[in-house]
Amino acid sequence: MPKITFVKEKKQIEVPEGANLRKEALKNGITMHEGVHQYLNCRGNGFCASCRVNVKKGIENVRRKRWWESAYNPFWILNPLWLFARISHEQEMTLACQDKVMGDCEVETTPPMNWHGDQFWG
Ligand code: FES
Repeated sequence: MPKITFVKEKKQIEVPEGANLRKEALKNGITMHEGVHQYLNCRGNGFCASCRVNVKKGIENVRRKRWWESAYNPFWILNPLWLFARISHEQEMTLACQDKVMGDCEVETTPPMNWHGDQFWG
């Protein structure tokens, strides 16, 4: 069974292969949404981008719906911060509600905004 390590929470859980990352985190008491998004979110439908995480290790073990994360997805208008949050994290940032865990991985929940990222202003 794959193991998910939540870096900030210092917690490791075992999940069945193919389990949904957001659902498993919530089941284990791990907060996936910040602030008002704890109450106002799309409940795992991929519209609000408030469940974004950085997969620090094992990104190859996380099956993602990549098109859903594209800048062309019209639902980003609901949470445009997603576009900024991804700067410099394009390869590791993903939406937990759209991810299936296929192997071990290490995840950073509620990653900070990257307003002053290396590639943003320069
Ligand atoms: S819960 Fe809204 S995008 Fe994941």
